[in-house]
Amino acid sequence: MTKYVAAIDQGTTSTRCMIFDHSGRVVSVDQKEHEQIFPRAGWVEHDANEIWTNTRQVAAGALAKADLTTGDIAAVGITNQRETALVWDRTTGQPVYNAIVWQDTRTDRICQELAALGGGQERYRDKTGLPLATYFSGPKVRWILDNVEGAREKAEAGDLLFGNMDTWVLWNMTGGVDGGVHVTDPTNASRTLLMDLETLSWDEGIAADMGIPLSMLPEIRSSSEEYGKVRERGALAGVPIAGILGDQQAATFGQACLSPGEAKNTYGTGNFVLLNTGTDQVMSENGLLTTVCYKIGSQAPVYALEGSIAVTGSLVQWLRDNLGMISTAAEIEEHARTVEDNGGAYFVPAFSGLFAPYWRSDARGAIVGLTRFVNKGHLARAVLEATAFQTREVIDAMNADSGVPLKSLKVDGGMVVNELLMQFQADILGVPVIRPVVNETTALGAAYAAGLAVGFWASEDDIRQNWAQDKQWDPAMDAEARDRTYAQWKKAVTRTFDWVE
Ligand code: G3P
Repeated sequence: MTKYVAAIDQGTTSTRCMIFDHSGRVVSVDQKEHEQIFPRAGWVEHDANEIWTNTRQVAAGALAKADLTTGDIAAVGITNQRETALVWDRTTGQPVYNAIVWQDTRTDRICQELAALGGGQERYRDKTGLPLATYFSGPKVRWILDNVEGAREKAEAGDLLFGNMDTWVLWNMTGGVDGGVHVTDPTNASRTLLMDLETLSWDEGIAADMGIPLSMLPEIRSSSEEYGKVRERGALAGVPIAGILGDQQAATFGQACLSPGEAKNTYGTGNFVLLNTGTDQVMSENGLLTTVCYKIGSQAPVYALEGSIAVTGSLVQWLRDNLGMISTAAEIEEHARTVEDNGGAYFVPAFSGLFAPYWRSDARGAIVGLTRFVNKGHLARAVLEATAFQTREVIDAMNADSGVPLKSLKVDGGMVVNELLMQFQADILGVPVIRPVVNETTALGAAYAAGLAVGFWASEDDIRQNWAQDKQWDPAMDAEARDRTYAQWKKAVTRTFDWVE
């Protein structure tokens, strides 16, 4: 009997393969970073061939580290950075352009032109649950078709394929030019601005507005079913690929937020709070997204409200890579601990404009409140606090939309090892923050989706039972101090507006 399930997590900064046992514990992990390409201010790209090479390497690496063979693996799930858009040639298998990453703001003009067709930024909200913003895939595909020579003609002739990174990895794993399957799931499709949230199918009218031929778009299947098997050569050969979830939805699943009212916050490159709303599509009036949370096989889709924050962990990376202020991400906490508070400094990292709840592509980052008193420690603190303040803003919006204030917040992702940040998060929210034992919930969620499809796990009850708490932080800041510092943050945010014409 096979004892394990594998997950490929194709994230913004790295690709990993993780192997889990039946209790949802990590058996092994292999990971490889890929290059972040910044051709101009506001542009972010990835080399899709590099990502595919890394995917194969980490799959082999994770098996080798656990001393396992493909016969030990019951199924593999895929989870991925969402929205990042790739267009490739179906006969050569080669991308026509680098993948345009979710953080990229080059489609601002395209979004404005679409808004001007009528309805403004909310033009597609009813159908897709999303505002018109540079974040989503559709306008990125439009940009590629408009700007890469010959791409539009080829696309219209049916020679090009579009996919987010789930689809790219799946197509290659299942054979690429030799019969690869061109499929996605509703969680990824719901981030393209092209999918009807009700029918879970591509909306012809929106695709026509954006000039995107339907023939390029992958087939939308469920998040948990067998799509195909890994092609015969290489690691995982012959193993069924049986789960696809966008990374934030995967983390929600892995955190066992399986009932309406349950929410999680993942601290990755950005932060993403998802609240399970069950089979109801709750349309936000406070700047959140309505998105598909998961669809297990033939069951009805489950929806979520989402607060997406573009820059949190990537601000720490920026301090390390662009400023050289720290040499490892962990150092940020050491610096922050040298001071009592932020010394009056606030850092609003609007590097990709501001996402939820503002959706302002005209915003750019700012550090405000500086005096000669402010030192490295204060800035380190302001960097960490930015993550917590931005989270508070989206939780406020969520409470307003749902009418039921959140009583606690489950957290996961890289930054949750930072104790100072977790305490400050509880202080600023005024509710407990709870970290699970397995905080690799993104990969775990994809493994669950795949394992459910092949009967490795029997039902969602197995997932609930596997979840276990590691640590809880309770709010300790007095209400007056909390309100004062949060009001200062809100004021700092307004200083980033109207920067880009
Ligand atoms: O929507 C973008 C999100 O899916 C990226 O997540 O963890 O790869 O930064 P992450």
